[in-house]
Amino acid sequence: MHDFRYAGGVLCCEDVPLGRIAEAVGTPAYVYSKHTLQEHYRRLEEAFSGIPHLVCYSVKANSNLAVLAVLAAMGSGADIVSGGELYRALKAGIPAEKIVYAGIGKTEEEMAYALRQDILMFNVESETELLALDRVAGEQGKRARIALRINPDVDPLTHPYIATGMKEAKFGIDMEKALAVYQQAASLAHVEVLGVHQHIGSQITRVEPFRDSLEKTGEFVRRLHEHGIKVRFINIGGGFGIPYGGEEVPYPVDYARAMKPVLKEHRCTVILEIGRMIVGNAGVLLTKVLYRKRGGAKRFLVVDAAMNDLVRPSLYGSYHEIVPVEERERERETVDVVGPVCEAGDFLAKERAMPRVEEGELLAVMSAGAYGFVMSSNYNSRRRAAEVLVDGGDFAVVRERESLEDLVKGERILR
Ligand code: LLP
Repeated sequence: MHDFRYAGGVLCCEDVPLGRIAEAVGTPAYVYSKHTLQEHYRRLEEAFSGIPHLVCYSVKANSNLAVLAVLAAMGSGADIVSGGELYRALKAGIPAEKIVYAGIGKTEEEMAYALRQDILMFNVESETELLALDRVAGEQGKRARIALRINPDVDPLTHPYIATGMKEAKFGIDMEKALAVYQQAASLAHVEVLGVHQHIGSQITRVEPFRDSLEKTGEFVRRLHEHGIKVRFINIGGGFGIPYGGEEVPYPVDYARAMKPVLKEHRCTVILEIGRMIVGNAGVLLTKVLYRKRGGAKRFLVVDAAMNDLVRPSLYGSYHEIVPVEERERERETVDVVGPVCEAGDFLAKERAMPRVEEGELLAVMSAGAYGFVMSSNYNSRRRAAEVLVDGGDFAVVRERESLEDLVKGERILR
């Protein structure tokens, strides 16, 4: 579901016409719906009711403080991958005891910061990281709570750049080696083994990869218990897919149903590190058509958003639906929707059949709430877009468009 609908002939976010936002804030701008965020969070919570669970929203999907604060108020925890994300999560009011920290390259400085804040646990990805964490925790006279990220070796049936749970991936610890690493962890003075972590990939649109990987993880937990290592948390990672173009995808309840048998058997608290499913369809990228252009062989819509604003189409060939903000009868045409960046790979859509739009009109690039703004850059010295949060009939800028001054902040000319 989401709260972007046509009303009175114009596309609205909740009760706010997108044109009003463009007028007030300019374009390009990311627009998020508070109600959609809340509703997605609620559905996830409901789906896993009946088993002890903790939703740790995956901050990397959209780390705007206002978005984090909405989820914090719903009771969400956070899944973080850097000291920067920890800073944001805490600032937005997510309690440290609901924060889990993943990532294969945590620095000692980041570990120390997270230990000082007393986060729930670290998802450790290698033996050497384990030893480093033990050392850093020792320096603070603390014990670091951990889960080891194991690699269940299943194919998540998604884009190779976001498939993370297969043998050839850089993530996690190989299943066969994992028992030995757990035994080592259990013997360390400044480490407390609390759970098992897996994350098999992102934008997964089938329940089977989750069921299969969790069965393997469940089997592994059984082996751990046989060896006297008890875990209280199973972290199943994130990855629930969303519809980008009207396709059918499982609902949270479908995933929950497929996973409940294993989760019930182990009586562990399940941690869900969900990002995209909560925030993806809660946001659009609002952009204006600058020029219509006819190339040798193609028609182009040159818009004021580019790959630096939303890189997913260029990077993964991802599909984002693009719709005119004004609803009316229109001819259809096939166009490439491209941005102003000086790269042939700068496009938001290729060979897209869509309603004909004129210069000066507004377009909404749908499903851009996850991995949109967070992956944006200043390439071509483009200022990063504004971010807006809509709540019913109100909206507020929750991140200002960058200024020219922001662009050169911290730079120095040497004389
Ligand atoms: N947990 C871990 C350890 C992760 O690496 C990720 C995502 C998540 C949770 C959240 O996954 P989600 O529920 O959002 O699928 N930039 C790519 C997606 C990269 C995902 C990276 N890891 C994209 O635009 O599709």
